[in-house]
Amino acid sequence: MNTVLITGTTSGIGKAFAEKFANAGNNIILVSRNKSKLQQQQIYLQSHYHVSVKYISCDLSEVHAANVIMDKISSMGLSVDFLINNAGFNEAGYFIDTSLEKELDMIQVHIKALTALTKLVLPGMIARRYGHILNVGSTGSYMPCPCDAVYAATKSYVLSFSNGLYQELKGTGVTVTCLCPGATETLFADKADISNTLLFKLFVMQPETVAAIGYKNLLKGKRTVTAGLYNKLLVLSAKLLPTAIINPIAQWMVRS
Ligand SMILES: NC(=O)c1ccc[n+]([C@@H]2O[C@H](COP(=O)([O-])OP(=O)(O)OC[C@H]3O[C@@H](n4cnc5c(N)ncnc54)[C@H](OP(=O)(O)O)[C@@H]3O)[C@@H](O)[C@H]2O)c1
Repeated sequence: MNTVLITGTTSGIGKAFAEKFANAGNNIILVSRNKSKLQQQQIYLQSHYHVSVKYISCDLSEVHAANVIMDKISSMGLSVDFLINNAGFNEAGYFIDTSLEKELDMIQVHIKALTALTKLVLPGMIARRYGHILNVGSTGSYMPCPCDAVYAATKSYVLSFSNGLYQELKGTGVTVTCLCPGATETLFADKADISNTLLFKLFVMQPETVAAIGYKNLLKGKRTVTAGLYNKLLVLSAKLLPTAIINPIAQWMVRS
């Protein structure tokens, strides 16, 4: 039975991932900040799917969060077979107006905690010649996003890091997949006050669908996967068109 470590499980895509992995008979370690939601999720998943579910209440914007998580996991006598680096949030708006504190926290969560967790689980996976890592990027990984500049930059890191690591790990039995969702109906847009933008009106996917796409491609050991046809077309346009054209379109979608 595999043990799956998932960050950001109390809502949205991470919650759907937890359900998907539990349904497939895996043991789960849930990580988020909200302890009471984690406790409820543990009870629900254990009683519905009859798998072992542990939780670690932790703020991934804290500098040593990844070490704290991995120390707790080794004191539980567990090792990680699957890592889903999913936790994240947005701070949208003109850079001159946005909160620097939130943006630095975002860099810590999306980049530093994701990198540290990956670094800490890899030696065990490589020694066992078995493991899958999935990093949640975004369609924003493929293009600069005016009025969401820091968010898109962090997600570009996630994609670039995952792509590089994928190649390094060939032949080790360990794979890294970068899942790039577009607008998805979770708490994400409300928290960032962007649910009324064109981006979230045009084409919005359900978190269960996004997690199912990620799950399937993770098991296949795919390098990258963009969720949904509309998002695939968006990413293709961003690859083909110059930034001078993509920039105003991206801004229009986040500000309209
Ligand atoms: N929804 C979209 O349109 C969309 C599009 C592209 C990419 N994504 C990416 O998908 C991932 C999941 O987002 P979502 O849409 O499912 O959003 P969500 O519903 O807001 O869920 C985010 C999860 O991350 C956790 N989290 C946030 N900050 C954290 C922190 N500092 N420490 C620990 N946990 C933290 C939250 O739990 P607590 O608050 O309990 O800590 C929650 O469980 C993110 O990486 C996001 O960037 C989302």
